[in-house]
Amino acid sequence: MKHFVSMQDLSEQEMYKLIKKADQISRGGARPLNRQYFAANLFFEPSTRTKMSFVVAQRRLGIEVLDFMAEVSSVTKGESIYDTARTFESIGADLIVLRHQEENIARKLADAIQTPVINAGDGTGEHPTQSLLDLVTIYQEFEQFKGLKVVIAGDIKHSRVARSNAIALSTLGCEIYLTGMETWQDSSLRFPYISMDEAVEMADVLMLLRIQHERHQDHLAFDQNSYLQTYGLTIERERKMKKHAVILHPAPVNRGVEIDSSLVECERSRIFKQMKNGVAARMAVIQTLLNQGGNYNEEDFNQRH
Ligand code: CP
Repeated sequence: MKHFVSMQDLSEQEMYKLIKKADQISRGGARPLNRQYFAANLFFEPSTRTKMSFVVAQRRLGIEVLDFMAEVSSVTKGESIYDTARTFESIGADLIVLRHQEENIARKLADAIQTPVINAGDGTGEHPTQSLLDLVTIYQEFEQFKGLKVVIAGDIKHSRVARSNAIALSTLGCEIYLTGMETWQDSSLRFPYISMDEAVEMADVLMLLRIQHERHQDHLAFDQNSYLQTYGLTIERERKMKKHAVILHPAPVNRGVEIDSSLVECERSRIFKQMKNGVAARMAVIQTLLNQGGNYNEEDFNQRH
């Protein structure tokens, strides 16, 4: 694995390897890397979780983080993403983490430079490290994926999380269903659409999505309270979920819109566990890209899968 830009690039076995590695790190930590590495985190879109969990992951591995703030960088003088990345490559960055509003830009950059590129979210394209942390969270719950019923709910059309997870979960053998408002459906994802009432009764994993207001042409062209009642996870719907079913959400959460605020930290919610797993997932990706095996036991993997 040279770059980490799309879940499309990974086989089932490669996904399992990363999931197992991240799961082990989440339980036992990881040793710092064997030499000094530098990482450039190039965030051109707002982020709390992804950016900060990359920083924590990098620092836990002993990586020096090069501070970059787009708004006070030479990007404001018109420097391109390519030239910015080449600059970091020239001054010694071993890793580039990119979040940007343009779909497919991480792939374009990865094709153009030698330094490993990690896609930290590219517009409505993909968010593969979010997907990996979601997979780790599901794995910790069910220990396998085959036949699990996963419902992805909400603003599918604008969600890079939906895209990465649809690819990954189908590769791993889950049954995927989608639910959401008709105007936000995405015909490129070829999975059945069901109602939210069907979803709550069927799902082993209910994966809620954030409404991506910033990507909508018609800001708030819907009533938030009636949205919750029709398409969201209300208290009444949560009561109809299977006993073992869990709720995921990549966050930030629009409380009271996708989900009743009181359910964000309910017993079956794994939302903050997902964030915790984000550090281990990103450590696993970085170790793999830098060819650092870490404490992952390949023999154990081969025996179990
Ligand atoms: N889930 C996620 O990508 O959150 P941030 O936008 O805060 O990074």
